[in-house]
Amino acid sequence: MCGIVGYVGSRPALPVLLGGLRRLEYRGYDSAGVAVVNHRLEVLKVVGRVERLARMADPSRLTGELGIGHTRWATHGAVSDRNAHPHVDCTGHLAVVHNGIIDNHAELRRELEARGHRFVSDTDTEVVAHLLEELDQVDLAAALRAASRRLRGSWALGVVSARRPGVLAVARQDSPLVIGLGDGQQVVGSDVTAVLDLTRRVLYLRDGEVACLTPEGVTVWDADGRRVEREPFEVPWEASAVELGPYPHFMAKEIFEQPQAVRQALAGRVEPGSGRVDLGETGLDPATLRSFQRYAIVACGTAWHAGLVGRHLLQRATGRPVSVEVASEFRYGDPMVDAGTLTVAISQSGETADTLAAVREARRRGSPVLAIVNVEGSSLSREADWVLYTRAGPEVAVASTKAYLTQVVALHLLAAWAAPTGAEATGLQLLQLPSRLEATLGLDPAVQELARELAGSEHLFYVGRGLDYAVALEAALKIKEISYVHAEAYAAGELKHGTLALIEPGRWVVALATQRALLAKTAGNVAEVRARGAQVVVVGPGASPGRAELEPMADRYLPLPEAPEPLLPVLAVVPMQLLAYHAARARGCDVDRPRNLAKSVTVE
Ligand code: F6R
Repeated sequence: MCGIVGYVGSRPALPVLLGGLRRLEYRGYDSAGVAVVNHRLEVLKVVGRVERLARMADPSRLTGELGIGHTRWATHGAVSDRNAHPHVDCTGHLAVVHNGIIDNHAELRRELEARGHRFVSDTDTEVVAHLLEELDQVDLAAALRAASRRLRGSWALGVVSARRPGVLAVARQDSPLVIGLGDGQQVVGSDVTAVLDLTRRVLYLRDGEVACLTPEGVTVWDADGRRVEREPFEVPWEASAVELGPYPHFMAKEIFEQPQAVRQALAGRVEPGSGRVDLGETGLDPATLRSFQRYAIVACGTAWHAGLVGRHLLQRATGRPVSVEVASEFRYGDPMVDAGTLTVAISQSGETADTLAAVREARRRGSPVLAIVNVEGSSLSREADWVLYTRAGPEVAVASTKAYLTQVVALHLLAAWAAPTGAEATGLQLLQLPSRLEATLGLDPAVQELARELAGSEHLFYVGRGLDYAVALEAALKIKEISYVHAEAYAAGELKHGTLALIEPGRWVVALATQRALLAKTAGNVAEVRARGAQVVVVGPGASPGRAELEPMADRYLPLPEAPEPLLPVLAVVPMQLLAYHAARARGCDVDRPRNLAKSVTVE
C-alpha cells in the first residue's frame, strides 16, 4: 500500500518529508526512505520505521528544498534496504517513489536491461526510474507523462531530479494522491493528513493525470496531455486532529473520541426537538431512496461489518431485500445488480481498491451508487452518484474504531430516512447516542482488568445473534488484527453445528446479548458452552429484563448503560474495541501499527 510524500518550496524539505511520512506510516512500515535535491541527489533509505529513518537522517547532508519520501508495505521484493524506495536511475540524478503495482514491470525490465540499464532492486518500481532516465530530456513532467503511457497497473508516483531543480513531478493511476497548495511551496501526499501541516487547500489528482509542482504553482495534465483546470478544495480537518494529544496511542484517542464523532455525524441531520431526519445534503430524496427494488451493500473488513448492521436496518425500513457482500468477491460473483438496485458502498478512506472496483462493476451494470464515506474528496466520493459523509474526522490507527461507529450511525440515519414512518423516533434515539457512548466508555477500567485475564489466551470465541452477530464479527476482527490472538465469531445458534467441538475447559467465550427478543436463545448457547467448561464474558443490558437472566450465567458481565434497545448493539462494540486495545497492550503489541497490515488497502 505504501505512502508517498513530496515537497518543493523555500524551506528545508527533510523535516516536511519526515513529518508527512509519520502521518502516512499507517499505510505501511516495512521500510522508509527520502531523496533530497541540493545540486546533487542525496538518498537515504532504511529497513524499519520512519523514526529509524529520522534518527539516521543527517540534516547537514540531506539539505535542499526539494524532495520525496516513502514508507513501504512490501509487494514486490523482500523487505531490505535495497528494495526500499526511493529508487534511482543509473546516473544517480533521478529518484522515484511509488505506491501501487506496475503490472508490466517484468517486460519493461527486460527491455531496459537489453538497452544497458542495470537494476539494483527486485521491485516493480525501479523500471520507472530507468524509463525516466531515457525520457527526461528537458522536461521532467513531460517525461513522466510519456513514461506513464508505458505503464500498466496502479501508481501514485513522485519524481525529482538533480538536473531539474525546483521541480517535483507526480502522477496518478488507481492510487490516491493529494496535492497541497501552499504559498511559495507545494506538498504532495498519499492522503490529506500528510499535507495538513502546511495547508488545507488541496487538489486531488485523478486517474491518468500528471502534475508539475514548482514553488510558484501547480500544472496538471490529463492522460491525453491536455491542461486541466480544477478548483482547489478546502479540507475540513485541522492539523491538530491528527495529533496524539494526551493519549498513548491513536487507537485509544479514536475510541474515546467516539461520542464527539457521533455528535458530528448527527449534526444538522437530526432536528433536536422533533427527531426529524434529513439527509437532503446527499442529493437523494426519500422517495428515490425508497423507489429501489433492492439494495446491495459492498465494503471490506470493518466497513463490511458495518454493512451487516446496515442490512438489518435497511431491510426493516424498506421491506426490500438487502444483500451485503465483501467488495473483493462482488465483481467475481456475477452480481445481481441493475438499474433497480441501489449499491451502497461503505469505506472510511474512500480509496480501498476492492471497494472502488465493486462500485465500477455495479455502475457498469446500471446500478446507481450511494457512498458512505469518511474522507471528503476521496476517489469513492467522486465516483458515487450520492455521498453520505460519516464525519468521523481523520482516523489514524490501523484498527478502525470511530470510522466503524459513524458508519453504523450513517446507516441508522439512512434507514430512518428511507422508512415510510417512524423516522422521528429513531432520530430522537440517535440523539441520545453520544451521552450513552460516554457512559459506555466508563467500562474502561473493568475491561482493562478483563483484558489482563484474557490476554494469555491464544483462542477466543465471540458469539451473538442478529445485530449482535455483526458486532461479534467486528469484535473478533479487532482483537485478531492488533493482539494477534486467534479469534472467531459465530452466530450463536451455529455453535452446535460444529464449533462446539473446539470448546474445552478454560476456553474464553464472549457472548453479545443486547437484543431482548433473542436473549433466551443466546442464554441457551451460553449454557451450552459453560456446560463444556468454557468461561464466559457476557456483554448485555445494564438493567432487567436481560441483566437478571444473563449476569448469573456469566463469569464476567459487562453491563451496557441504559439506552433504547436499537442503540445497545452500537454501544456494545465499545467494550469490544477496548478489550482488543488492552489485550494488545498486555501482549506487548504495536497497537497502532499491527504487523503485515496497512490502513488503506489501495491494491487489489
Ligand atoms: C480493520 C480495518 C479494515 C478496513 C478495510 C476497509 O480495523 O480498518 O478492515 O475497514 O480495510 O477500509 P476502508 O473503510 O478504508 O474502505
